[in-house]
Amino acid sequence: MNREQKLELIYNIFSPSAPIENIDLFVGRHMHVEKIKSVIEERGEHAVLYGGRGVGKTSLANIVTQLFKNITSSKITCNRTDDFKSIWEKAVTKIKLIKKENEIGFNKKEIKYYTRLRLPNKDKIDASDIENVFYNIFDNILIIFDEFDSINDKETKNKMADTIKTLSDNISNITILIVGIGNNVNQLIGKHPSLERCLKQIEMTEMTKEESASFVMNSMNILKIDIKQNILDKIIEYSSGFPHYTHLLCKFVSKNVVDDNTNTVTENHFNFAVKKSIENSDHSIRTAYKKAISSAKKKNQFEDVVLACAMASTDENNLFSTDEVLDKFNKLTTKGLKKESINYNLGMLCKKERAEILEKHGRSGKTKYKLKNPLMKAFVKLKLHNKK
Ligand SMILES: Nc1ncnc2c1ncn2[C@@H]1O[C@H](COP(=O)(O)OP(=O)(O)OP(=O)(O)O)[C@@H](O)[C@H]1O
Ligand SMILES: [Mg+2]
Repeated sequence: MNREQKLELIYNIFSPSAPIENIDLFVGRHMHVEKIKSVIEERGEHAVLYGGRGVGKTSLANIVTQLFKNITSSKITCNRTDDFKSIWEKAVTKIKLIKKENEIGFNKKEIKYYTRLRLPNKDKIDASDIENVFYNIFDNILIIFDEFDSINDKETKNKMADTIKTLSDNISNITILIVGIGNNVNQLIGKHPSLERCLKQIEMTEMTKEESASFVMNSMNILKIDIKQNILDKIIEYSSGFPHYTHLLCKFVSKNVVDDNTNTVTENHFNFAVKKSIENSDHSIRTAYKKAISSAKKKNQFEDVVLACAMASTDENNLFSTDEVLDKFNKLTTKGLKKESINYNLGMLCKKERAEILEKHGRSGKTKYKLKNPLMKAFVKLKLHNKK
């Protein structure tokens, strides 16, 4: 492989800003694939795939459409201007069904042709119109509505809930998969007790260390680049389970190695990759971080408190307590701050003037905090490395 070929491969393998399309580059998520498979197989069952920003929801949805060969898939991306009719219009247009018919006459050859589905020609449609579209269709069809969180319109959410219930009761060969950012299913589609039995909730969390490691090792193997365990560990630790950062770091690490005409990652390659990953992080993350830690006064603790927040152990909802921040703060610095000062700093970081990088949860006494943008965790760790 020459340099140009290697660089081209690097751009193909690492896509920090685009979901995975190629099944060979998709790692892990076996449990999620299994859960979706069982929903498809169970008649009348549908699912919601929800989770935080950037954990890999769209990539999983893309892979699912390729994995199950005996099913016709249609995946659409919702946006803010969509309503119930427009999302179904997009979904239905993408469904291409192959029909077979025997010719009339002696030769009786089988002929295949494609049919497309159509929505009724009226301004507003509802659940029963969708039921009618699929009434005489016997193919197994999976319809994925990605970025469903961008739909704010309550009517669309309610109609979607009605549709899921109607299809579940009457048309068992259709599976709907709703995908989007949310802490729970209610945030995405609203509260609908009637859906409880037919709508499986599949939560997408950050990648495990094993999954991230297998992505790095896979990619480096393809590129024939050697990477030492300590650098691999750092990539995984800094990525914090966010594949966006794993891709970003790996892309710059391997580019530096190729630019240097070698096959082994050194500390220098890694340090430079950290710098480039910070520069290439989302604008919103960089500006929020800057605003959160900036101060005219020399004596301010915001930078270290934000760092302690990124390092603090969290519960299953990504929440951490003041005590956890205090513990990390005292390990990171020798400043020996009191709990009241940490509390003050945490409170300030929830305010607009500090870019609201934290969110407060629970009442006094049981207050917990979380990073508003979970990707901030990875960014802050990169900043710390860069400062050392
Ligand atoms: N299983 C995986 N293996 C390797 N890379 C992955 C995997 N899942 C996601 N990625 C990478 O992680 C990044 C984020 O993935 P993706 O866009 O699918 O996340 P998302 O949850 O849909 O994000 P958003 O909340 O912004 O819609 C992309 O760079 C993608 O290539
Ligand atoms: Mg997505």
